[in-house]
Amino acid sequence: MKGGAGRLALLLSGRGSNLGAFLRAQQAGELQGSVEVVISNRPEAAGLKIAQDAGIATAVVDHTLYESREAFDEVLAEKISGFKPDVIVLAGFMRILTTNFVDRFRGQLINIHPSLLPKYRGLNTHQRALDAGEREGGATVHFVTADLDEGPGILQTPVSIEEGDTAVTLASRVLPFEHQLYPHAANLVLTGQVSLSKHGAVWNDEILPPGGKIWRPNCQ
Ligand code: GRF
Repeated sequence: MKGGAGRLALLLSGRGSNLGAFLRAQQAGELQGSVEVVISNRPEAAGLKIAQDAGIATAVVDHTLYESREAFDEVLAEKISGFKPDVIVLAGFMRILTTNFVDRFRGQLINIHPSLLPKYRGLNTHQRALDAGEREGGATVHFVTADLDEGPGILQTPVSIEEGDTAVTLASRVLPFEHQLYPHAANLVLTGQVSLSKHGAVWNDEILPPGGKIWRPNCQ
């Protein structure tokens, strides 16, 4: 597998389509780094198989085997640190992380959330956007801080809501945009162009808006 200089650890809990997007970007020479390890909290996550098929190291830290969130996060953090990643990519990783964990990897942890943050933090984002009569949904890549989905945005891609859209059709239209957005945003962090400061995400000495900069990939 090809890859630029940076090292990525990718955490997931399920399907792994965003992992697939990172691997395609890496293979195409479009990722400023390489995925060194894929870690799941669920042994049955389909994403693990995608990693194994691509010859990438995998690890499982099964949250059901730990008595507390703190104990789980401690083991997870040690596992991640062993791979010395520059950036840790959360891609459908369905665990809330403790403050200790997030502080340990401050500025290195990024997540993709299927809404135009700061709107619709949490779950059922597409349904909530539809219920509110929004004209656009989308996805945001943001730094992870201790508050759920509240970390400063890096980049976000709006996707138009169409007549008759359901949460399912909207999610399936947003997903291909996620796949372009996420590796692109990760590159900004890997190359140090965007970093986390006390006041938000910083790009060229400029503090970005809470949801990050709007980015529309070519397929739109
Ligand atoms: C994506 O929709 C992402 O926005 C959300 O979880 C989903 C993960 O999908 N955080 P996949 O496992 O990468 O296919």
